[in-house]
Amino acid sequence: MRKIIIAPSLLSADFADFGGALIQITNSQSDWVHMDVMDGQFVPNITFGPKLADDLRKRSSAFFDVHLMVQTPHLIAGAFAAADAITFHFEAETHSHRLLQEIRKMGKKAGISIVPSTPACILNDLLPYADLVLVMTVNPGFGGQELIPECLDKVRFLAEERKKRGLNFLISVDGGIYDKTAPAAIAAGVDILVTGSAFFHAPDKAAYVEQLRNLS
Ligand code: DX5
Ligand code: ZN
Repeated sequence: MRKIIIAPSLLSADFADFGGALIQITNSQSDWVHMDVMDGQFVPNITFGPKLADDLRKRSSAFFDVHLMVQTPHLIAGAFAAADAITFHFEAETHSHRLLQEIRKMGKKAGISIVPSTPACILNDLLPYADLVLVMTVNPGFGGQELIPECLDKVRFLAEERKKRGLNFLISVDGGIYDKTAPAAIAAGVDILVTGSAFFHAPDKAAYVEQLRNLS
């Protein structure tokens, strides 16, 4: 039984009360706090920037898993000093190879992500430079969408590559993950489950997190 990391996403929180959402995540015994940064360009939605991570950091020592859904992420990645992991999109950055190394130099886990229309094999040359690979299982921009099952083939591919090549990046899935869809993701080889709307809708958040954890 391997340890699955549960990462509730602030995207589905009440934006008028991020501090309260952070307490809910912490009290639920979740492992990471997932922060979706959206710029209105790479995705058709706008959320928040580095100041939110800075301000929440003053209240918490939790692991901040920052997911940049922005164009030219190298322009903003350096501002996320409060992050523990910074993941950006392959589709949004010409020099992914350089940015992964720059994020590692900041002392953070460096993550790369792909949207549903991008094949995982495009990451082949980058895998040794990544600490985390985030497979989007919905088209990014909004919470509450249905998981696209074909995306789990990419998780299987990445898990195989990792084994074959002796690499040790973590694999994350993001979008449409909840108790009904998580088992297939776990079977495919994921380490991190990002869960947004299902977490914030759960009446008993600690029980929901425990339920996800026990699926592995
Ligand atoms: C989607 C975001 C996700 C989102 C997941 O663009 O990257 O992190 O919050 O939300 P659910 O779990 O509701 O699909
Ligand atoms: Zn995300």
